Amino acid sequence: MQKVIYPKKSLNGTITVPGDKSISHRAVMFGSIAEGITEITGFLTGDDCMSTISCFKKLGINIEIDKDKVWVYGKGINGLRKPSEVLDVGNSGTTIRLISGILAAQPFSCEITGDESIQKRPMNRVIKPLSLMGAKIKGINKDGFAPLHIDGTKLNSMEYELPVASAQVKSAILLASLFADKPTAIIEPVASRNHTEIMLNYFGADIKNKDGKIISTPVKQLYGKKVAVPSDISSAAFFIAAGLIMPDSHIIIKNVGVNKTRTGIIDAFKTMGGNIKIINESNDSGEAVADIEVKTSNLKGITLEGDIIPRMIDEIPVFAVAALFADGITTVKNAEELKVKESNRIAVMAEELGKMGAKVEETDDGMIIKGNTSLHGAEVYSHNDHRVAMSLAIAALKAYDQTIINNADCVNISFPSFYDYIEKL
Ligand code: S3P
Repeated sequence: MQKVIYPKKSLNGTITVPGDKSISHRAVMFGSIAEGITEITGFLTGDDCMSTISCFKKLGINIEIDKDKVWVYGKGINGLRKPSEVLDVGNSGTTIRLISGILAAQPFSCEITGDESIQKRPMNRVIKPLSLMGAKIKGINKDGFAPLHIDGTKLNSMEYELPVASAQVKSAILLASLFADKPTAIIEPVASRNHTEIMLNYFGADIKNKDGKIISTPVKQLYGKKVAVPSDISSAAFFIAAGLIMPDSHIIIKNVGVNKTRTGIIDAFKTMGGNIKIINESNDSGEAVADIEVKTSNLKGITLEGDIIPRMIDEIPVFAVAALFADGITTVKNAEELKVKESNRIAVMAEELGKMGAKVEETDDGMIIKGNTSLHGAEVYSHNDHRVAMSLAIAALKAYDQTIINNADCVNISFPSFYDYIEKL
């Protein structure tokens, strides 16, 4: 699909963006291996989370969906059955990496694959640690890449220091650790999102974080619960950025997950001078939730580096768009992980924003963004990456003529009605 985005004067209004992708995936996965019913409200019905549902259905779990409400009829920690066909995760890195931790411990073997992008993304980051626990996983066609063959087996515990800050890798190990013989310890170089720890504990697991060392003790059973999924801060980020850079704008985004491991984007924009307020804070099952109020702001360029990077890794493409309109230069460092997302988000953002007249220089571990830019419309390409498509759409709002986004429908991965929201505001 091609989408034409016309420039806008300002954006105003109150919106609720769809449910958190990370939390939606986890609610289905953990609900499947828990005993009893897990009732999920606010579930993200984007393609990625639907892939997770499809995989667990093939593993013998009954899952019902009605609008954004989902019921998972869990079969307990030992209740999955051997699938009769290959599991397909579509475009979802979270699904393939997390589910590998569960499948490694099952009393059956299976195969799992995904789309073209998934087959290019590194799987050794989960294969290596899970193998240290005794797992038998290998790439069928190519070492370290999907499709993967997993021979379920008994797992042992371990102590593991993650070489990269990755919540997907940490979560794969934590899921495997539930089935291990003794407690498993994980040391993170920098804290990554902790939804797995929060939700598994809510379901009855025993995971503790002692000064950055995460210790998970195997459990006999998990118990299904009600899960209220907050709105995804990664989806809210497009409208936070838009609210800051568009003239005369005032946007309120309701009920957003503001877990501290995810709010790097708010901290970064505030450091740039962004007028952002967190209001009506509450807590649901361990996850912080709040409304976010954004007003037009004069941003100034900053250097973004270090511990904040994993706290806003998915938001860096739209952060780069906002930085185009800040005073001065913005430099992003320590963000090499962006190269192995749904696309190489450093190269792709530099290339596509370049077509609109931006000056974004690609570096080994990030980018250098020249501020005070005037953008013109152009024909750009999403590279089938949902966050690239949405970031380009936000840039297009500030361009002086229309922009055409090719392969624009990949937004369905995480934010199916994204383009309607622009019109709504
Ligand atoms: C996710 C973790 C992050 C993030 C991805 C979702 C998760 O990936 O980029 O969109 O749900 O655990 P990494 O673990 O590769 O950093």
